[in-house]
Amino acid sequence: MKLLREKIQNEGIVLSDGVLKVDSFLNHQIDPILMKEIGIEFAKRFENEGITKIVTIESSGISPAVMAGLELGIKVVFARKRKSLTLTNHLLTSKVYSFTKQEENMIAISSQYLSSTDRVLIIDDFLANGEAAKGLIDLVNQSGASVQGIGIVIEKSFQKGAAELKNLGYRVESLARIQSLTKGKVSFVEDAQE
Ligand code: G4P
Ligand code: NA
Ligand code: NA
Repeated sequence: MKLLREKIQNEGIVLSDGVLKVDSFLNHQIDPILMKEIGIEFAKRFENEGITKIVTIESSGISPAVMAGLELGIKVVFARKRKSLTLTNHLLTSKVYSFTKQEENMIAISSQYLSSTDRVLIIDDFLANGEAAKGLIDLVNQSGASVQGIGIVIEKSFQKGAAELKNLGYRVESLARIQSLTKGKVSFVEDAQE
């Protein structure tokens, strides 16, 4: 998605060889106009998959997921990372290891919002090692629903998540794929292919 690559080039800040900061439009401040286009693009890529529900994880997955849900006309449920006062009944839970934080966290979705007949599209902001995505897949599988695809805003293709999820047989659609972040520069897989 060219618009997204341009946004990353113009506003992204390379913090290290492994980490890209995109706080101006995705992880802190949110650009709704870009996010709307992201929703349209996800909807286009998955429109023939009979998706009935989008599953994401708080907090930064929510805005692209909601925009895709708006386009597809379906509801969006986000996995919670923190205990909630009201989210208490019939919880599906999974453990997610974070490489960046080097800690394991529990994520949870109420089984009320996923049924065995659902065809799920998983959406997230970043794909790095794929731990969050695998936790979401686990939650969806526990409900008996099926994962039809995974939509990612920014994939770091040099980390192992995308390859692992594809090896597991999942369709992964990433709107921007980063080949490297070395020397303070963002290089896209898409540019290398052109
Ligand atoms: P993984 O799920 O793919 O294995 O990733 P990891 O544990 O490394 O990621 C932990 C958090 O860091 C996630 O957000 C993930 O989206 C984010 N992240 C990973 N790599 C990058 C990066 O290069 N740039 C940015 N900006 N974020 C990255 P989170 O902590 O759950 O935060 P949030 O969703 O509440 O924003
Ligand atoms: Na994030
Ligand atoms: Na995320």
